[in-house]
Amino acid sequence: MTRELRPKKVQESVVHDHTYKIFPNDLNSYGTVFGGLIMATLDRIALVVAERHSECTCVTVSVDSMHFLAPAKRGDVLLFRASINKSWRSSMEIGVKVLAENYHTPGLRHILSAYFTFVAVDEERRPVPVPAVIPEEPIEHRRFEEAEIRRQRRKQEAEETKVRRSRE
Ligand SMILES: CC(C)(COP(=O)(O)OP(=O)(O)OC[C@H]1O[C@@H](n2cnc3c(N)ncnc32)[C@H](O)[C@@H]1OP(=O)(O)O)[C@@H](O)C(=O)NCCC(=O)NCCS
Repeated sequence: MTRELRPKKVQESVVHDHTYKIFPNDLNSYGTVFGGLIMATLDRIALVVAERHSECTCVTVSVDSMHFLAPAKRGDVLLFRASINKSWRSSMEIGVKVLAENYHTPGLRHILSAYFTFVAVDEERRPVPVPAVIPEEPIEHRRFEEAEIRRQRRKQEAEETKVRRSRE
């Protein structure tokens, strides 16, 4: 079966503000939000974006630049945002951002940003082609261009890891 590969706009697959209220059972022993909770939620949300864009089953192949910039705390509400930056043959880069809000304090706190790479696969887990991304807004164009630089870096790192492993 041939799939339609109509190029798609970023806004067709975006997740705007997925909200999650923090309760005591979400905290680590330090009293801040358990990082694994945020990571797992991000993986699910970024997957939704990749599958909306590709209309295929997708798997996570890499995550880069996951830095926790500020702690999220008890009582906070987390806002998860995810959108596609660029696609190549079978892979897609999804940018994610987590913000925290609390009605006691004005404004939003930036908790984390990261980039997930997903690959669209068929029933035999073979990579399959995905639609191109159409950036529209200036920020989408910037992300589109920067995604290419990150892809080159990821490919280089993957190659270096392969060489290192072959020597072990
Ligand atoms: C995803 C997978 C099917 C790709 O298979 P593969 O043999 O590496 O296929 P290819 O070499 O043709 O690469 C396919 C695409 O993945 C990309 N890719 C592979 N390794 C990558 C990495 N480490 N980082 C970013 N992209 C990567 C390639 O650049 C290529 O992209 P393109 O088609 O857009 O150019 C395979 O690596 C896999 O099954 N990985 C495990 C995924 C998984 O189970 N995830 C859940 C975690 S438990």
